Amino acid sequence: MKNLLSMEHLSNDEVLAILERAREFEQGAETKLQRSYYVANLFFEPSTRTKTSFEMAERKVGCTVIPFEAGFSSMLKGETLYDTVKTLEMIGLDTVVIRAKEDEYYKELLEGINVGIINAGDGTGQHPSQSLLDLYTIYKEFGRFEGLTVTIAGDISHSRVAKSDAIALRRLGVNVNFLCPPEWAGDFEAQHAWNGLLEESDVIMLLRIQHERHDVYFSKENYHQQFGLTPEREKQMKEHAIIMHPAPVNRDVEIASELVECGRSRIFQQVQNGVFVRMAILETILKER
Ligand code: CP
Repeated sequence: MKNLLSMEHLSNDEVLAILERAREFEQGAETKLQRSYYVANLFFEPSTRTKTSFEMAERKVGCTVIPFEAGFSSMLKGETLYDTVKTLEMIGLDTVVIRAKEDEYYKELLEGINVGIINAGDGTGQHPSQSLLDLYTIYKEFGRFEGLTVTIAGDISHSRVAKSDAIALRRLGVNVNFLCPPEWAGDFEAQHAWNGLLEESDVIMLLRIQHERHDVYFSKENYHQQFGLTPEREKQMKEHAIIMHPAPVNRDVEIASELVECGRSRIFQQVQNGVFVRMAILETILKER
């Protein structure tokens, strides 16, 4: 695997190999990388988890992390992303992790660039490392994918997590439902009321309302009442069902604040799992260089 760009490009075998390697890292395995590789994290959109988690994973697999400040880079003087990444390649970097606001920004990097590219989120497109950590969280919980039911509720059309997860989960045999207001469904067939979803789902995955991508008035209270996970709805979930959310969380909008760390919530475990999964992603890409 030279790059990680979209879950569409990964076979089930490649996904399962990354999850298995993440499990080994969680159990204390050492990296198989033979030398220290140079990596940089280019984040042109805000991030807390993904950027920090990649940096932790990079250090844990022995990489040398070269600082890159998107807000002080020469892209502010008009340099293209291609020229920026080519420049980093010539300086000696092996791999770059990129988050950018344009969908499929990585397409301009596929010809002529010889560093590994890891997509840490492209606009409303894909978020493959988040998807892999979501899969790892589900696999750790249930030990399988086949036959599970996952309901993804929230801002579906703007969500790169929903798109990435739906592709991967369905290919692994998971029944995926969507729940959102009618105007947020995008290309997905979604339900617009909770009817039956709580009782039948093994995973309820809430998504952040991406206020920065909406330009019409939105009532947080109305949304919470109709589509949010309230304490009353949590009580209707299956006994062994879990709650997930890629975070950051809008407390009391998509999920009641008191449920964020409840017994069935895996929201902060997802963050922890992300480090092991990103170690596995980095090792997989770097060992082929
Ligand atoms: N889940 C996620 O991508 O979080 P950040 O935006 O904080 O990286």
